[in-house]
Amino acid sequence: MMNDTQLTQPQLGDHGLDNWRELPIRQQPSWPDRAQADKVLADIATRPPLVFAGEVDRLRTRLAAAARGEAFVLQGGDCAETFAAATADKIRARVSTVLQMALVLTYGASMPVVKLGRMAGQFAKPRSKDVETREGVTLPAYRGDIVNDFAFTEQARTPNPQRMLEGYHISASTLNLVRAFTTGGYADLRAVHSWNHDFRSNPKNSRYEVMACEIDRALQFMAATGADFDALREVEFYIGHEGLLLEYERALTRVDSRTGTPYDTSAHFIWIGERTRGLDEAHVDFFSRVRNPIGVKLGPTTEPDTVLRLLDKLDPEREPGRLTFITRMGATKIRETLPGLLSAIKAEGSTPLWITDPMHGNGFTTERGFKTRRFDDVMEEVRGFFDAHAEAGTHPGGIHIELTGDDVTECLGGTDQIDEATLETHYESLCDPRLNHRQSLELAFLVAELLQNRGAAN
Ligand code: PEP
Ligand code: CO
Repeated sequence: MMNDTQLTQPQLGDHGLDNWRELPIRQQPSWPDRAQADKVLADIATRPPLVFAGEVDRLRTRLAAAARGEAFVLQGGDCAETFAAATADKIRARVSTVLQMALVLTYGASMPVVKLGRMAGQFAKPRSKDVETREGVTLPAYRGDIVNDFAFTEQARTPNPQRMLEGYHISASTLNLVRAFTTGGYADLRAVHSWNHDFRSNPKNSRYEVMACEIDRALQFMAATGADFDALREVEFYIGHEGLLLEYERALTRVDSRTGTPYDTSAHFIWIGERTRGLDEAHVDFFSRVRNPIGVKLGPTTEPDTVLRLLDKLDPEREPGRLTFITRMGATKIRETLPGLLSAIKAEGSTPLWITDPMHGNGFTTERGFKTRRFDDVMEEVRGFFDAHAEAGTHPGGIHIELTGDDVTECLGGTDQIDEATLETHYESLCDPRLNHRQSLELAFLVAELLQNRGAAN
C-alpha cells in the first residue's frame, strides 16, 4: 500500500538515532570483521523500507483502541523464524492459524481483533549464555539466523554479517506473501471458518462444538442480511519482531517527509525483550526515538517504579497506542505481581496497552533435554492475566503467543495430550517450544470463553 509520503535515510547522528552507540548494550553479536559488517549495513540502509509510515500510524490507532478496551490484540508466530522455514507452505500455515484464532476471538470478544505476526523479521534471539559447550567443545551460542547458523561447527556458529542482508530479503519475501494472502481473498471469513472444520470434527474437541456452531450461525445470519462479504475479503495484518539487533534496526530507519519523524521500517511493531530493557541502555534509547508502536516485555521481578520510568522514557507524551507492556511472568507469579503494576500505572493516570505473553514465564527442560511448556500453564497464565485486570479495573488487551501452523510436538498437553515421549517425535524449534496448530486453536476457544464471560460480567 503506497501513500504520498517519502521515506529518506537519516544521516549519522540525526534525531539522536545514534546516541545508543555510546550506551551500554546487551546481546549483540561480535562480528569477526567489523569492516564487512559496516559494508553490509550501509547496503541495507539503501534498500527499500519493508513497511510504510501510514501503515505504522494506522496500527498505532488500532492498538490505542485495544488499550481503551475496544479491540483485542492477537500476536503470534515462531519463537525464532529460520531462513530455511520461510517457505510458502509454512508461512501460509502460520498466517491461517492466526486468522483462524482471530475469528474465534472476534466472536468471543464481540470486538475487532488486531492481527499482528511475530514474523517477517523475527530472526534475532537473546541468549542466556554467550557460548554453548557440547562434549567438551565450546562455540558461540546460536543467536538466530540473522547472526549465525544453528549447526554446531565453528564455521556455522561464527557470526556472519552477510546474514543481515539475507534476513532483510527473507523478511521482504515473507511479508510479500503475507500481504498477498491477507488482501487477495484468501482471508475471506467464510473460508477461514471452514478451515476450522478439521478441528471441530475431531471428537476430542467436542467441548468447543457449541461455540463453533454459534460462529456458523453468526456467519449464516450475516449472509442472510446481505452482509458484503467482498468487503471482508481483506484483513489488516501487521508484522512485528523483537528489535534486538540494533545496527540492523538503525539501518532500516527512515525519516517520513510528512512529519520529519523517524520510523523503523523493518516492521510495524517492535518490542524490547526482557533482557535488553535497561532504562539507561541502548535499546530503550533507540526505540524512544522512532514513531513505531513499541512493546516492552515485563518479567516476574518487575517493579512498579521501573514500569513508570519505562513509560516516561518511551512514551513521555502518553500517546494512545504508542506503548504496549507484554507481561510474561509465569502461571503463578502473574497473580502475585501483575495487580500491583496495574494499580500503580492506573493511579498515575496512564493507559498503556497490556497484553499477556503466557509462554516465556512457563518454560522448563525435560529430563531428556527438551525445552517445553505445559498447555495448562499457558492457559493458567492467561486466566491470571484476566483476573488481575478485573481486580485492577483495567483492560486485558491481548495475547502474544509462540505458535506454528504445523503439526509439531513441542508443548505438553492440549486435547491431543502430548506427553514427554511424544515431544521427541516432531520437535523442530531451534529456540522455544511453540503451540502447534490444534493447540493454538484450542487456546483461542478458551480465551474466547474468557472474553465472553467478561462481556457478560460487564
Ligand atoms: C521471546 O519473545 O522470544 C523472548 C526471548 O522473550 P523475553 O524477552 O520475554 O524473554
Ligand atoms: Co521465545
